[in-house]
Amino acid sequence: MNNFQYYNPVRIVFGEGQITQLSELVPTDARVLITYGGGSAQRTGTLDEVKEALAASGSRDVFEFGGIEANPEFTTLLKAADMVNEHNIDFILAVGGGSVLDGSKFVALVASLTEEDGTVSREQAWDALISYCKNLDSAIDLGAVLTIPATGSEMNSGGVINYSERQAKLPFGNPLAFPKFSILDPIKTLTLPERQVMNGVADAFVHVMEQYLTYPVNAKVQDAFAESLLKILIAEGLVVKQEPNNLETRKNIMWTATMALNGLIGTGVPQDWTTHMIGHELTSLHSIDHARTLTIVLPSVMRELKESKKEKLLQYARNVWDITDTDQNDDTIIETAIVYTENFFRDLGLPVSLEDVDLTEEAIDPIVKQLEAHKMVKLGEHGKNDLDVSRRILQRAV
Ligand code: NZQ
Ligand code: ZN
Repeated sequence: MNNFQYYNPVRIVFGEGQITQLSELVPTDARVLITYGGGSAQRTGTLDEVKEALAASGSRDVFEFGGIEANPEFTTLLKAADMVNEHNIDFILAVGGGSVLDGSKFVALVASLTEEDGTVSREQAWDALISYCKNLDSAIDLGAVLTIPATGSEMNSGGVINYSERQAKLPFGNPLAFPKFSILDPIKTLTLPERQVMNGVADAFVHVMEQYLTYPVNAKVQDAFAESLLKILIAEGLVVKQEPNNLETRKNIMWTATMALNGLIGTGVPQDWTTHMIGHELTSLHSIDHARTLTIVLPSVMRELKESKKEKLLQYARNVWDITDTDQNDDTIIETAIVYTENFFRDLGLPVSLEDVDLTEEAIDPIVKQLEAHKMVKLGEHGKNDLDVSRRILQRAV
């Protein structure tokens, strides 16, 4: 196992009816900006519950900013950041999924980058984003009410921002962006369309894979945790498809998705975010849902990199899919595990090839160009996935 520091200050408040806890969790004299997405928080009544809880105690001033898109847009977020300054906001409360949470983290980080006229500098915010927001040293406090289990944003300090005009979807990370708390009420996930539920299961699955499927470093805790999370997602993913109102399943999916990307299973082990980085370009060029880009790319990553990932692929086959037939050669075992993975994604109604989303080989060149433009030229746990490797991965995904 490699050396590591693990730090995670996020208070998780989990369970039915826990939104009322906001009256205790948000400072009583705060000037709060509630941020939300395209309307689901209003439609489902969550926004009203949130406002009621904030009004239940103290003397908070509450403002609202709605309209944060799925794949949150840079330009929209800067409007929210301007609102933060205009109203002297000192607490941002994000109500929604990964997009609202990520977007709100970015707002919290860049709100102080103001011009002389008090508005947030577009240029400085862009510079911050292309530097992963690493150098920013202040942020507005932030809390979250999560309405879709998927990204892990509720318990991590990262995010991904989309800037359509520049055809860029870029990640950032800064410890100041850890939420102070996140409320996870599984009931809130019952209003999700099936497509978003399946997307969430797949996103969490691939998060675990990106931290697991590299090479062994004898990290027994991380490996065993990762394998358990994968097995839970496979089992519960299939259950939720058949029984969407099964609350116990919703609870387990919600907590698993959080555990998949709160840093724990990624400590002290090599990681490989190749699938995500190629996936981001697919979203930015073709507006494909984040998780669906991942289910398209991951099987091809596994096939293309099967030599360098051989030991972990065999461990994955054995411990996650119970493929224990010792008569088979390694290649056959690995291919079986990849096919099982694809079948699992298909069972959830997710695409596993470019063809499944009506793209052809012609889509590959522009994606590779975008990877180059975004300096994604040394991906993988060995930093050896250059543009040729990414091209071959995409060719396998046709
Ligand atoms: O916008 P509204 O109207 O709220 O609708 C949303 C949106 O259309 C809807 N929704 C959310 N909760 C709902 C609901 N509809 C009904 N009932 C509810 N309870 O679901 C749609 C998708 O929401 P979104 O927030 O986009 O989904 P998700 O949580 O999957 O987030 C995806 C974003 O997170 C980024 C992705 O790149 C993508 O931009 N990621 C963030 C990560 C992180 N911070 O660590 C890691 C991930 O790899 C991921 O990249
Ligand atoms: Zn993801």
